[in-house]
Amino acid sequence: MEKLDKVKREIEDLKGRIQRHDYLYYVLSNPEISDKEYDDLMRVLKDLEDKFPQFITSDSPTQRISGQVSEGFKTVAHRVAMLSLDNTYSIEEVRLWENKIKRMLAKGVILDYVVEPKIDGVSCSLTYEKGVLTLGSTRGDGRLGEDVTASIKTIRSVPLRLLGKELPAALEVRGEVYMSKKDFQSLNDQRLKNKEAVFANPRNAASGSLKLLESKVVAERRLKCFIHSFGYIEKAFFIAQKEFLDKCSAWGLRVNPYSKYCQNLDEVIKYCVSFQEKRESLDYEVDGMVIKVNSFKLQEQLGSTLKSPRWACAYKFPAHQATTKILDVQMSVGRTGVITPVAILKPVECGGVTISRSTLHNFEEIERLDIKKGDAVLIERAGEVIPKIVKVIVSKRNGKEKTIKIPARCPVCAGKVSKIKEEDVAYACINPLCPAQLKKSLLHFASRGALDIEGMGDSLVEELVERKLVKDSADIYYLNEEDLLGLPLFKEKKVRNLLSAIENSKKKGLARFLYGLGIRYVGEKAARILSSRFNVIDNFFSLKTCDLENISEIGPVIARSLVEYFRQPQVKKLIQKFKKAGFNPKEQISPSKGVLKGKKFLFTGELESFSRLKAQELVLSQAGDVSSSVSKNIDFVVVGKNPGSKFAKAKKLGLKVIDEAEFKKLIKR
Ligand code: IVH
Repeated sequence: MEKLDKVKREIEDLKGRIQRHDYLYYVLSNPEISDKEYDDLMRVLKDLEDKFPQFITSDSPTQRISGQVSEGFKTVAHRVAMLSLDNTYSIEEVRLWENKIKRMLAKGVILDYVVEPKIDGVSCSLTYEKGVLTLGSTRGDGRLGEDVTASIKTIRSVPLRLLGKELPAALEVRGEVYMSKKDFQSLNDQRLKNKEAVFANPRNAASGSLKLLESKVVAERRLKCFIHSFGYIEKAFFIAQKEFLDKCSAWGLRVNPYSKYCQNLDEVIKYCVSFQEKRESLDYEVDGMVIKVNSFKLQEQLGSTLKSPRWACAYKFPAHQATTKILDVQMSVGRTGVITPVAILKPVECGGVTISRSTLHNFEEIERLDIKKGDAVLIERAGEVIPKIVKVIVSKRNGKEKTIKIPARCPVCAGKVSKIKEEDVAYACINPLCPAQLKKSLLHFASRGALDIEGMGDSLVEELVERKLVKDSADIYYLNEEDLLGLPLFKEKKVRNLLSAIENSKKKGLARFLYGLGIRYVGEKAARILSSRFNVIDNFFSLKTCDLENISEIGPVIARSLVEYFRQPQVKKLIQKFKKAGFNPKEQISPSKGVLKGKKFLFTGELESFSRLKAQELVLSQAGDVSSSVSKNIDFVVVGKNPGSKFAKAKKLGLKVIDEAEFKKLIKR
């Protein structure tokens, strides 16, 4: 017994020491011990915990990576809604904001502020109960978020246990999870090497990483976090934002070091303006400053609108700009054959990111901006890594610039290029067998929202097309072991997994299949609606646009595109080929679920078990329809907590109103 007590004490002591060193390293950036000494401490703790697993607690530093793969994220309701901020874009607008809030407060009240960098990441909410981190969630729609605790725990600057003795029984703080510019660049470099899609900006990279299901992979993304506000606290520990931030630091939470207390608005403005230069030297993206009224009492008096608090506003920085030169213009061929001109730029740094290409969108844009090869141009980058060309610097022309011509032949297959009828700015390669189109359409066919064939990524598709093993999407279903074993890095197990993923995809239903075909304008939602209306693929061959006229969400553009697509003889052949391989896509609704067919739903208020989006998706997946505005033809109004004005309108119209429990019964959940 005594020995066990001793072990327990030793474990507690090690955890405390490691926690302190984590704080010194990740929060204060001021370590006291070497990496080796730190690793030694961790190893001793890990060995002890392996021997005495009864003493492992959720806040142990060894538990940062759960090692488990989550199946999905649970939805969690935020105790206090997570709002967003109103933006201002100039000093005048900031002054107007102050005038407005002053009018709402007692005459003569003196306002002081805290100004903080607006970190361009993803917001998160962290709940600590008795000082221990128990929940980490995303903002979601502001009322319902996703439980991403496993991912949050991998962030080393997020303490698993708060420091100090005087802790609130329950505390929910909010902050920004972000990826540093450096980590973002190396992640994208690595993804490029692996022929994976790159992230458009550090924000997307952070958000995508937080939602990975494998915490081991999340940990590799080296996310970071700053705490900037709070949602809920059991007992008021502070009366102003400045005090709150100081308290956070004392509890071991990481607070941005550039947060500044300002006595008046002039100081605020001075700081915001001066920070614009500072921003370039930071290792993370800052897209503006957040100005907050310091006093919580005044914050409370000012309150919030439905969307944002009145006591704060964001001062957004102008986009990053730089000048460079267009070295060349390449033509990129998309999945549907559309040719997009892309400017290859002399690499230039713009807001901490090296820019070397920019899409020119289409040939009309080239004409509009009068862009020529060799031109000096001003580029701008707002949030996204992909910049846009703002203008040509005409004064720098030397006469050697070359006009950009619309290619007569496809740069990939040398097929004919023609203008697309309904979009007169676009030109496309019309050869349906063009390899560039084929690769992109195969990737789309196998993508998550479509047939979801795991393992069918960029490099495999590249090999299959280059070796002419696959000439259209139906060929995927004719691949055999022998074909695949001949590919580089394909061993038996990988081949077996891929073949079974291909086989399984045959059960995925008509909606995904229709979406996967990549018919112009037919997105996931349209595909679901069409599938539930027409049930089997053969019904599409005889379709006329008038058959599609009265289906909500299917407008004339989709209708025309669909009819034209199925009218092509090669499409008929393609579908035959799928069928011959045993893939005959059908609508996937069991008769019991068909009850929602044709029924229109409207949602108002918060549901407890699902986010609004999820609930809408469930309706659509069962052949129902959803609407966002009240009208007479709505069959069910689903009312959650705190419903909006739609509820009153619905009652006035005498529509059928149901609650969440009844909704669940309807959808058989
Ligand atoms: S305070 C009611 N402080 O900006 C919102 N937000 O556009 C109070 N953000 O979703 C948030 N840095 O995630 C606050 N220093 C900061 C921030 C910050 C970034 C994000 C936040 C919010 C978004 C609003």
